[in-house]
Amino acid sequence: MTPMIAPSLLAADFAHLAGEMEMLNRSEADWIHLDVMDGVFVPNISFGFPILKYVAALTAKPLDVHLMIVQPEKFIAEVKALGAHTMNVHYEACPHLHRVVQQIREAGMQPAVTINPATPVSMLTDIIRDVYMVLVMTVNPGFGGQSFIEHSLDKVRQLRRLIEQTGSKALIEVDGGVNHETGALLMQAGADVLVAGNAIFHAPDPEAAIHALKTL
Ligand code: DX5
Ligand code: ZN
Repeated sequence: MTPMIAPSLLAADFAHLAGEMEMLNRSEADWIHLDVMDGVFVPNISFGFPILKYVAALTAKPLDVHLMIVQPEKFIAEVKALGAHTMNVHYEACPHLHRVVQQIREAGMQPAVTINPATPVSMLTDIIRDVYMVLVMTVNPGFGGQSFIEHSLDKVRQLRRLIEQTGSKALIEVDGGVNHETGALLMQAGADVLVAGNAIFHAPDPEAAIHALKTL
């Protein structure tokens, strides 16, 4: 199966944002992955809505917004205003996850739930039928350019089994340390969507790097 590719803009050159967006628009990228960090849920701060407003205006590709923030439900309207396709919230940031998932759907977006490396797949048993997608973090969230955590392959396999057993239609997305080699392993394990930052934007030819991932 061909993977869907979601380049993570976190690794882009923000001094040349328009050029980076033109490259993505020309490329075979399926979605654009946008990492919002608050310095509380994760030990880093990235970019917020004033910047994402300009990003959204530069592309017609679906936006996959990954919120690494506490209380993500406070920002449903802001994410919706970007025209986002998917709103990704962390399992660890949402004590009332079921409610947040419904609110995202009611706002007209696709709800996705993200799990950190130390969160077991089994925690998703009671929400798996309600989500459009699960994002399995394959590094600890907060920074680009980290190395892939090998155990993630087992988690993707477990998640694929859970989806099959429950009749869920959820997609499996993976994020962190994804390159040609780990991407191939993740696809074999059952992933549908590959997020990649450094492997794309720091490649000599980012458009070719997207093509290479697309044709794994
Ligand atoms: C990490 C972010 C990722 C990051 C991935 O917290 O969620 O999307 O940009 O970067 P790479 O692909 O460089 O590991
Ligand atoms: Zn991300």
